[in-house]
Amino acid sequence: MHLEAPVPEIKVPIIWVLGGPGSGKGTQCDRIVAKYGFTHLSSGDLLRAEVSSGSPRGKELTAIMERGELVPMEVVLDLLKEAIIKALPDSKGFLIDGYPREKEQGILFEKNIAPVNLVLFFDASENTLVERLLGRAKTSGRVDDNEETIKKRLHTFNTHNDQVVQQYPDKLKKINAERNVDDIFAEVTTYLDLLVA
Ligand code: AP5
Repeated sequence: MHLEAPVPEIKVPIIWVLGGPGSGKGTQCDRIVAKYGFTHLSSGDLLRAEVSSGSPRGKELTAIMERGELVPMEVVLDLLKEAIIKALPDSKGFLIDGYPREKEQGILFEKNIAPVNLVLFFDASENTLVERLLGRAKTSGRVDDNEETIKKRLHTFNTHNDQVVQQYPDKLKKINAERNVDDIFAEVTTYLDLLVA
């Protein structure tokens, strides 16, 4: 646990990227990085890297992720904090993808790291999410890309997300993620251009 360690002052934008499983968070983050050069930190990727490291903590995490549940919030925040501190000297801004997933995570982030500047929420129907994830399952090799776990991931998302987004009415941009990747990105750039102006 590194939560006690202070984070140096962050002067670059912090953007949270929210959305259901398969809503296109990672896809849009890749586009954003290419255009704006922000540092992309995906909570899911950080957790999968911890799992691949073979650490005892990694084994516990796999079991939780296979069940489609949220891992303990201190674990995620700790991984994010470590990655932010490492990237901070050269970063133009941080895209925090898949975080916060519950109200308390957002509160803890702003208390321990820095206030968020913008919250992007990619909104898509359950049918769309399931269809995309099952499509990706053919090649992803992810332990949670199967029908049963997808249902649980959706349930977890539906349980917590409203509370998260309601917490940030002034910073939230709800984006229709049912469209094609280019159209979604065009809307994203309108918000980011304002932020970096
Ligand atoms: P995580 O890795 O964050 O998974 P997720 O939220 O379920 O999201 P995905 O990565 O599956 O999808 P995405 O929205 O990035 O979509 P993508 O761009 O890939 O989390 C995994 C697990 O880790 C969680 O279940 C939890 O256990 C744990 N965890 C993570 N964060 C946590 C936290 N903060 N606290 C506690 N636990 C946490 O796109 C999906 C597919 O759709 C792709 O095939 C893509 O090509 C396609 N696609 C994308 N956009 C479009 C489009 N516009 N049209 C058509 N197809 C599209």
